[in-house]
Amino acid sequence: MKLLVINGPNLNLLGIREPDHYGKETYQDLLCKIQAYCDEKQIDVSFYQSNHEGDLVDRIQQAYFEQVDGIVINPGAYTHTSVALLDAVKAVQIPTVEVHISAVEQREDFRQVSYIRAACIGTITGQGTNGYLRGIDLLLEAKHDG
Ligand code: DQA
Repeated sequence: MKLLVINGPNLNLLGIREPDHYGKETYQDLLCKIQAYCDEKQIDVSFYQSNHEGDLVDRIQQAYFEQVDGIVINPGAYTHTSVALLDAVKAVQIPTVEVHISAVEQREDFRQVSYIRAACIGTITGQGTNGYLRGIDLLLEAKHDG
């Protein structure tokens, strides 16, 4: 399985930014954790992070041409604003799981909207960085079921 893990704006500052919401692990710690999990499961994983909406759209489009089998994405604040990310996931038709480190459903009203959710096979929230691993599990289950 070929997997792409995408992180949106400000997730490169994990460990520094609002640790009460996002914990103390750094972005590098997150990548190491996912890499170790993927090694165990013999998944070929790539990572991408950007603070720019269009770059995230470009990376999702590129995944189509790379024949990526699954995407785990934490779109950060673009979750709540971006129709372009929704359309990109719809366009490439790659099974995608939306992940949020924090329990967005228990936070501000503006975090209750997720545009990308409509194009995702599942959503994981409030499990800290383990949520990314659960996202991978969902993709593996979907692959076996389909
Ligand atoms: C987040 C939740 C978003 O509301 C926020 O803008 C983020 C991170 C999360 O991982 O909990 O940047 O996606």
